[in-house]
Amino acid sequence: MVIFRDQNGDVGAVEDRCCHRGAPLHLGKVMEKGLQCGYHGLTPETETSCFYFWSAANGYRQDDPSATEQLFSEIDTAFQQDKHVVQLQQERLAELGEGGLIDVVADSARIHMRRTVDRLIDEDRQRSADHKEAVAG
Ligand code: FES
Repeated sequence: MVIFRDQNGDVGAVEDRCCHRGAPLHLGKVMEKGLQCGYHGLTPETETSCFYFWSAANGYRQDDPSATEQLFSEIDTAFQQDKHVVQLQQERLAELGEGGLIDVVADSARIHMRRTVDRLIDEDRQRSADHKEAVAG
């Protein structure tokens, strides 16, 4: 769990695992609204929504703000085109959970990362439970 205060002064708490590809959010960046994942820029708002999702950066004309705006506009257009499908996918995930998802080779790095983060979270929870038990005597 990561507890943070964003630049607006609002306090947030999120699981230390980005819902996109599992990156640790404690390595993220505090934004005006929320805590931004350092991997692709997803900034969780609620369990099923986010403030930002930025997957590409202007690495070709960094001194030209119009290049960044153009890149953003093109990505925003693609997201808007996918929005309906993504919302339907989210509804299915809410209904069925992730248990029925099929692993594909293209997602192997994400799957490995999520399994590693799941294992680390389990180990951390076990250490916490062991510590509470030891303290309670
Ligand atoms: S892993 Fe966090 S935005 Fe992709």
